[in-house]
Amino acid sequence: MNISLIGIGNVGKRVLEIIRDAQSGLRERSGESIKVISASDSRHTVYSENGMDVSRVLEAKSRGDIRKSGYRELVFDEIFSLKTEAIVDVASATPDGIAGRDLYLKAFGAGKDIVTANKSPLALHWEQIMDECKQAGRRIRFESTVAGGVPLFNLRDFSIIPSEVLQFRGVVSSSVNIILNDIINGRSFESSVEYAIKQGIAETNYHDDTLGLDAARKTVILANALFGTNLTLNDIQYEGVEGNMDKVSSLKGKGGLYRVVSSIRKEGSRTSVFSGIEEIGEKDPLRALGNESLGYTMRTDMNGEVLVVGLEDTPLETASGVVNDIALLAKTRA
Ligand SMILES: NC(=O)c1ccc[n+]([C@@H]2O[C@H](COP(=O)([O-])OP(=O)(O)OC[C@H]3O[C@@H](n4cnc5c(N)ncnc54)[C@H](OP(=O)(O)O)[C@@H]3O)[C@@H](O)[C@H]2O)c1
Repeated sequence: MNISLIGIGNVGKRVLEIIRDAQSGLRERSGESIKVISASDSRHTVYSENGMDVSRVLEAKSRGDIRKSGYRELVFDEIFSLKTEAIVDVASATPDGIAGRDLYLKAFGAGKDIVTANKSPLALHWEQIMDECKQAGRRIRFESTVAGGVPLFNLRDFSIIPSEVLQFRGVVSSSVNIILNDIINGRSFESSVEYAIKQGIAETNYHDDTLGLDAARKTVILANALFGTNLTLNDIQYEGVEGNMDKVSSLKGKGGLYRVVSSIRKEGSRTSVFSGIEEIGEKDPLRALGNESLGYTMRTDMNGEVLVVGLEDTPLETASGVVNDIALLAKTRA
């Protein structure tokens, strides 16, 4: 499987490391090797027709310029004419998702599949991306857009095929929950954000997390992928911590367990969708989650209620989900 990788940040670096370090297991379990033909960051694209030694790219990136790998530089748009089967998007999210959307449409037009961890394009342009993917006869996999490396869409697509999903409830975004928990336990908003940034849990630009936007984007993708809706971020109700301090402060001292939960359920022909703060009661299956873990319960008609929890949420698990999607494309190629 030949790929172009876009983004060599926290997740992209780990994607390269997994491809380097787990190649024999990947080959054994997917039937194919994964070759990185090109890699791009925000400034440059490097390329080798026969696949790059990813250690050279990683080392050059650590020295501040991927061109120091010695591989030939390309103009970004040349990636569409390379001999690759898939483009892997682990680039930064943009608020409008347009750059990602345009990338995917161009890739489908050039006969390439997409693997992405980037939420914005799917949360804002789902219908157009999925329609054009289908029309072009291509495939898109997006496991790591929601809940890091916790198996979710692949579980739905490969393990519970006969079932309809009736209800989904999940904690799919860790930063906002860690900050929420800290504030309920007595820290101020400012100090809990500062702490989360120092720990590498929240980004310096933390507002997407604290406003609940990150969790809301994931909730839109969940509703569309699991319940067949065609929603965008503008169609759903959501809340976070920032701008919601009256509610958050009112939870202090109550002794309950609270999380920002993505809740989606079928109500007749309607699908109700909400991303916001809920109390996790004593008998709630989501009680099994630790403070920093992600997980969900999915109620189905044929498989009962399924509970899945991932105890760790770091870029490694996300990257592993991305590489799994690449391997799945290889394994399920017609
Ligand atoms: N971190 C996680 O655990 C996690 C979990 C789930 C999903 N995600 C998603 O995965 C993606 C990557 O996250 P990250 O944590 O790795 O971010 P990151 O560390 O900020 O890295 C982003 C990478 O994208 C590159 N980039 C930005 N704009 C680009 C462009 N126009 N063309 C090519 N490359 C571009 C950046 O280039 P430079 O190196 O030149 O700046 C950088 O290498 C994001 O969409 C994020 O939402 C991340």
